[in-house]
Amino acid sequence: MVMAKEKKEQWVYSCQQCGYQSRKWLGRCLECGAWGSLEEVRLATSSSAKGAARGDMPRPVLLEDAPDGDEERLESSVKELDRVLGGGIVAGSVVLIGGEPGIGKSTLLLHFLQGVATGARQVLYVSGEESARQIKMRAKRLGAFAASFYLATETRVEQIIAMAEELRPVLLAVDSVQTLTCSDITSSPGSVTQIRESTCKLIDFAKQENIPVVLVGHVTKDGNIAGPKVLEHMVDTVLYFEGDRSHAFRILRTVKNRFGATNEIGVFEMKEEGLAEVSNPSEIFLAERPLDEPGSVVLPSVEGSRPILVEVQALVSPTNLGTARRTSIGADHQRLSLLCAILEKKAGIDMYGHDVFLNIAGGMRIEETALDLGVVCALMSSLLNKSVPSDMAVCGEVGLAGEVRAVGHIDVRVREVARLGFSRVLLPQGNRERLGEELDIQLLGIGNISEIMDIVFS
Ligand code: TYD
Ligand code: MG
Repeated sequence: MVMAKEKKEQWVYSCQQCGYQSRKWLGRCLECGAWGSLEEVRLATSSSAKGAARGDMPRPVLLEDAPDGDEERLESSVKELDRVLGGGIVAGSVVLIGGEPGIGKSTLLLHFLQGVATGARQVLYVSGEESARQIKMRAKRLGAFAASFYLATETRVEQIIAMAEELRPVLLAVDSVQTLTCSDITSSPGSVTQIRESTCKLIDFAKQENIPVVLVGHVTKDGNIAGPKVLEHMVDTVLYFEGDRSHAFRILRTVKNRFGATNEIGVFEMKEEGLAEVSNPSEIFLAERPLDEPGSVVLPSVEGSRPILVEVQALVSPTNLGTARRTSIGADHQRLSLLCAILEKKAGIDMYGHDVFLNIAGGMRIEETALDLGVVCALMSSLLNKSVPSDMAVCGEVGLAGEVRAVGHIDVRVREVARLGFSRVLLPQGNRERLGEELDIQLLGIGNISEIMDIVFS
């Protein structure tokens, strides 16, 4: 009896923008407020219901008896990607690579698959976006391709799974989730329901067969993997491939990782022959730095466990508008306004009468507050038209009272600064006190931004 009830088809109305579901049709989605976005979709019988019907009751195990040891990982020869994943892709895990169209996701995936396929390991690349001919052309450009690299152009998720079950590759890659269709769902490809159900099936496949799956997802301009955050909760690892398309640099960032650290980054450079790994990002980001130029400051940022020196540039000029402009590229806009206000109030510098433009060179994006002191120095430097010494790097957080606060990972930062040949670093007094003297660099402690004038610009 129960079976019959479960077999019965269930229909719901689902918002194609955000995935909200409702029993009855609504003109406007209650969740995201989109108009006319609800479409009728048939619900797939969930796998848990199927499992229960088959009678395979799950049993809990004692924590003590649970398997231990490290996860089984598959490594490629793309070191930057392996590191971002936490040392290779974990068997049976599902990784989502998100990024704007044209940023280089398919290229990255080809490199990764080539890397895994060496050593005669079979990989399967399924593309719903490009023809086999196009993919081959690109793969050729990226270098010799492995003999165990299989390719399919397919969008029906059931067929993809059937192919993978037969081939049993060590890795399955699907490009992209937006092209997938699932036969039990009536809505069009790319809709939230299709993406979610298709991903669900691929996740089931990965877990059951212990084969890792990599999915590519396009991200809209406002940063959502289309079919908003729904996918992020479902998969094990989410990586974002980002960068400014006018620059060659690309950053691969972990947003979520059930099998490793988040905030780990990998740095790549897009070249004619594909993506090249950048193992020394600091050197590259500083390569074009103008020396002794007012407004330019080098600061050591830390992404995950990795230090990267970047150049922050500021341009401060008298405003001819009623309200001064604050423009920031690569750093938080609100934070910039805040730092300008602190400078005005605590260091007595006229910022309200000046337009401020801030840029992190090389298309890098920095979120951490350890950037503050460098930004403040860059602003003052531009305003005073006096350069910050080119052998000095700056890091520290700035509080509302103008105090310079200690930052994390200070030893990693200072070591990177020293490694790249800087002879002094301006850092929070709180960090200075705890650092040993063994580092081959002059440490200049600072407690309040009012001291900047004497230390930096004297
Ligand atoms: P692609 O991987 O197709 O992006 P996505 O899958 O994220 O949409 O990469 C597209 C861009 O990369 C394209 O504009 C051309 C550039 N590119 C190179 O500069 N060099 C190369 O070797 C390759 C393959 C692509
Ligand atoms: Mg692509």
